[in-house]
Amino acid sequence: MLQGKKIIIGITGSIAAFKIPHLIRLLRKQEAEVQVIMTPAALDFVTPLTLSTLSGKPVLIGFFKTDDGLWNSHIELAAWADVMMIAPASANTIGKIAAGLADNLMLAVYLAARCPVFLVPAMDADMYLHPSTQSNLTTLRQYGARIIDPVEGELASGLHGAGRMREPEEIVRILNDHFEKKNSFRKTKVLISAGPTHEPIDPVRYITNHSTGKMGYALAESFADRGADVILVSGPVSLEISHPNIRLIRVNSAAEMKNACSDHFAGADVIVMAAAVSDYRPESFSPEKIKKTEKILEIRLVKNDDILSWMGETAKRGQVLVGFALETTNELLNARKKLKAKKLDMIVLNSLRDQGAGFGHDTNRVTLISRKGDEIEIPLKTKKQISEDIVNFIGNWIHTRNLEE
Ligand code: CTP
Repeated sequence: MLQGKKIIIGITGSIAAFKIPHLIRLLRKQEAEVQVIMTPAALDFVTPLTLSTLSGKPVLIGFFKTDDGLWNSHIELAAWADVMMIAPASANTIGKIAAGLADNLMLAVYLAARCPVFLVPAMDADMYLHPSTQSNLTTLRQYGARIIDPVEGELASGLHGAGRMREPEEIVRILNDHFEKKNSFRKTKVLISAGPTHEPIDPVRYITNHSTGKMGYALAESFADRGADVILVSGPVSLEISHPNIRLIRVNSAAEMKNACSDHFAGADVIVMAAAVSDYRPESFSPEKIKKTEKILEIRLVKNDDILSWMGETAKRGQVLVGFALETTNELLNARKKLKAKKLDMIVLNSLRDQGAGFGHDTNRVTLISRKGDEIEIPLKTKKQISEDIVNFIGNWIHTRNLEE
């Protein structure tokens, strides 16, 4: 998969830089083109001569090549790359890129890069676990960077803990997976809903639920990474997303979500309704703030349209419709019923009884059910990993259906 792929390796000041010559050898063996850029701090750990010999290209460090005024264009470098990988990524560089700083060539290339960027952190465990490093990594994830998390193990300091860079062989496998998956949903239009809805009572109050949107956003990213054109209709959440293949439409109420979804439904090949849409809304909206004059306040609720059921009724042949079910009792039975009642192809069952699963958690445990009777239990994993499993399940479904037709 790596043959002819253009890969920028950005090396920063971390002792794990000693593993990068081996990484470059592995990439070159698979016929990738490798351009190394070093931060000045990286020069203390590995020599440009070793890296340029192995990569077959001069190593770039500063903005200016020589005294003759020639310069290394960060824009051209960024446009050249199919992938940029910052390995090892030190705590200092992670902090700088999260803040948008560009005071060396590698940082400027990162800021200009539109290609996927992988960050491979490597540092002492305490530095890695420090809240500022963790919050920088969360920010960078939201900006679309893929983090190849370090593992626990022996560290250069002699201590044992999290922060050890992944081995070059594993990094090469992750890159191979990336290029293999990249086009599996090319030319596929995917409509995804995410997050809760707000049903207004008066100008300051609304009815909502605990959904954070994490699952739907992770799904949008997984589809987009595989080349799909994604429309993400999101209820009010605090998440950000930035990906060239994702168009984000923000809505507030269930009625707005229905409008946005129906605008894009007919053109979608795959529809995944991950939103926790409010089933009811206040019958009337008070334009003035409701005063606490009454001892008992009654708010009458009326049913919202079920967007997914409407889609099930109107779907065209070939469209793939996926729903979510959040159940607290008789989970499997209820999910199978919902799949049938809403005329879905697949349903993702979340059980609130599972530890670490459901609203607000970064992890989830789900069961994937298809209308043909396939049922796959996915153990507790991060929502990002679960989203990959869901996308694989949908991909296999489409593949089998196409073979049968
Ligand atoms: N859904 C929807 N429109 C609604 C309510 C739900 O599109 N008005 C979608 C959700 O996005 C989800 C699926 O329907 O994919 C299941 O929603 P859920 O609330 O679990 O099921 P309901 O059918 O509302 O049934 P109940 O609340 O009674 O369990």
